Amino acid sequence: MAKNHTIRHAQKEDVPRIQTLLQVTWHSSYDKTLGHKKVSELINEWHTKERLEEDILKENCQFLVCAEEGDIIATSFLNKQEKDAILGRMYIHPGKQNKGIGSELMEKILSSISKETCISLTVEPQNISAIEFYKRFGFTIQGPGSCSEDPHDEIPTLIMRRPPEETAKNKT
Ligand SMILES: CC(C)(COP(=O)(O)OP(=O)(O)OC[C@H]1O[C@@H](n2cnc3c(N)ncnc32)[C@H](O)[C@@H]1OP(=O)(O)O)[C@@H](O)C(=O)NCCC(=O)NCCS
Repeated sequence: MAKNHTIRHAQKEDVPRIQTLLQVTWHSSYDKTLGHKKVSELINEWHTKERLEEDILKENCQFLVCAEEGDIIATSFLNKQEKDAILGRMYIHPGKQNKGIGSELMEKILSSISKETCISLTVEPQNISAIEFYKRFGFTIQGPGSCSEDPHDEIPTLIMRRPPEETAKNKT
């Protein structure tokens, strides 16, 4: 199938379209578990123009977007700190999920880090499709917790971690 999307680094001008994508995808992903009102509150807190612009400009970070016909249809954000990285904002538009875009983003992310880098992320425990998706790329569940700079204790979350490649190889 012909590919008509492009994965590239986010720019400040993308912010309004990133906000639209995140709003649709968050309600579709979390309303059933967290409730529409709580999800709207989190969107208003975490996806402000200021916070997204800050993430786009942050040093040692990689904010990727997938653009298709003038729309932003997916995002991911990797915060790289020496040998530890935190992955977040992995969101594919509901109409574009299960078409390989998440895998394409993940391949790009993995090819941008060294073999020694350990990646952590936070996931909602009932988000089984995301958990299964991350497992396919070598992530395992560590237990309850959050890698967020701004965790909400009332929301249950799990930490998943992908060890450095050498550690993973030695275990097999
Ligand atoms: C979880 C998520 C990031 C995965 O991204 P995605 O683009 O949907 O995932 P992919 O398409 O790459 O892979 C998922 C499935 O599609 C299949 N797939 C891969 N390439 C495909 C293609 N070209 N055509 C059809 N299916 C394909 C994969 O085999 C996989 O199937 P399976 O696991 O059921 O066997 C995405 O679904 C999403 O944004 N979900 C909602 C938000 C969310 O939960 N984000 C994570 C927050 S922690």
